[in-house]
Amino acid sequence: MMEGSNNKINLGDFDVSETTGFADGDILEKLPEYFQPWTNISSRLVDLIENKTVWEHVDKLELLDHKKLNGQAELRLAHLQLSFIVAGYVWQNGPNNPTKGIPKCIAIPFYGVSERLSLPPVICYCDVILWNWRPVDPKAPLTKDNIKPLYLFPGGHETEMFMRVSLGIELAFLPAIQCVLNAMYAAEDSDSSSLTKCLEDVASTLRKMTELLNGYHDVLSASTFFNVLSNFFKGYGPNTPLPEGLLFEGVSDKPIYATSASAAPTSTLPLVDAALGVKHTEVMNQKDAVLTSAFESCLRGLADFRSGHIKIVTKYVVVPANGSVPGIDDLMNFLKGMRNESTGN
Ligand code: HEM
Repeated sequence: MMEGSNNKINLGDFDVSETTGFADGDILEKLPEYFQPWTNISSRLVDLIENKTVWEHVDKLELLDHKKLNGQAELRLAHLQLSFIVAGYVWQNGPNNPTKGIPKCIAIPFYGVSERLSLPPVICYCDVILWNWRPVDPKAPLTKDNIKPLYLFPGGHETEMFMRVSLGIELAFLPAIQCVLNAMYAAEDSDSSSLTKCLEDVASTLRKMTELLNGYHDVLSASTFFNVLSNFFKGYGPNTPLPEGLLFEGVSDKPIYATSASAAPTSTLPLVDAALGVKHTEVMNQKDAVLTSAFESCLRGLADFRSGHIKIVTKYVVVPANGSVPGIDDLMNFLKGMRNESTGN
């Protein structure tokens, strides 16, 4: 049906998996033996944070040579482990008492690995969610009930569920990736019945994601998210408890800024935004009521997800912050602006 499109995109070329989309379900089991000290600390991090002994353990680490890490898979696991260790080190005493600097033994490798992956030297969405899991049963469907996070922060079952629900939403987006591409090919081929079907499928995936988004309400309390978990996702720089930045000993004499880990860098919604933006004029120029209606369902799907997301941000961030977080009005205006753009308002 879509033979006319010559330039088919191969997802693998863009580091997108056909089975897990933007998430990486094949994160390495283990780094080479030489890096065992990082594994030892990251896998015991919850206890160390709860006993406030992260500094004690990290300060004794020897400086390991990150150049001995080979390939994306090792670099990703190293970023994941080091980002958790750094977050534990900086925030072990709560958001009001962060450490102003991190020692060479984690600063140099974390900075180096981040550079090699073109990621900021701070815990990222990919560390907490996209790479931080394994299927419980590899043969069963990948839903939040069949995934296990590998590295955790305090907050017990609620923290685990935060990670599982978040990843479940990313994984639910998987069918939409191919649908968006197929919609592009169909548009190129002026094949409006295929285009309509693709857009209907994208809209249905967005509805499913919105349903899953509401899953946070059942498993995560606002106080655990705001008072425990979100502390580890604060970056360093303006509007954080470390406004001057974080000193990376052995890397730079000046403190470093890096903003951290909300799901804002997800590729899911931006992919649909971009695809619909491209097709907006094409679709609207056609007088095909079914196609227009499928297109509008997608826009509604995006806007409904964003409305659900605004409720989440209100419950988990705005209300518990009670005026204590700088820049929150700007943030809400930004989220509402994105939602309204989805509906074309
Ligand atoms: C408890 C769960 C969540 C909380 C507390 C939360 C919080 C936030 C906050 C505070 C922002 C503002 C901008 C920023 O931080 O950079 C944001 C933006 C964003 N979040 Fe979330 N988020 C959550 C879950 C999700 C999930 C599951 C997704 C989708 C996979 C998502 C997608 C986005 C997107 C795309 C933006 C950018 C604004 C937009 O395009 O509408 N978030 N989120």
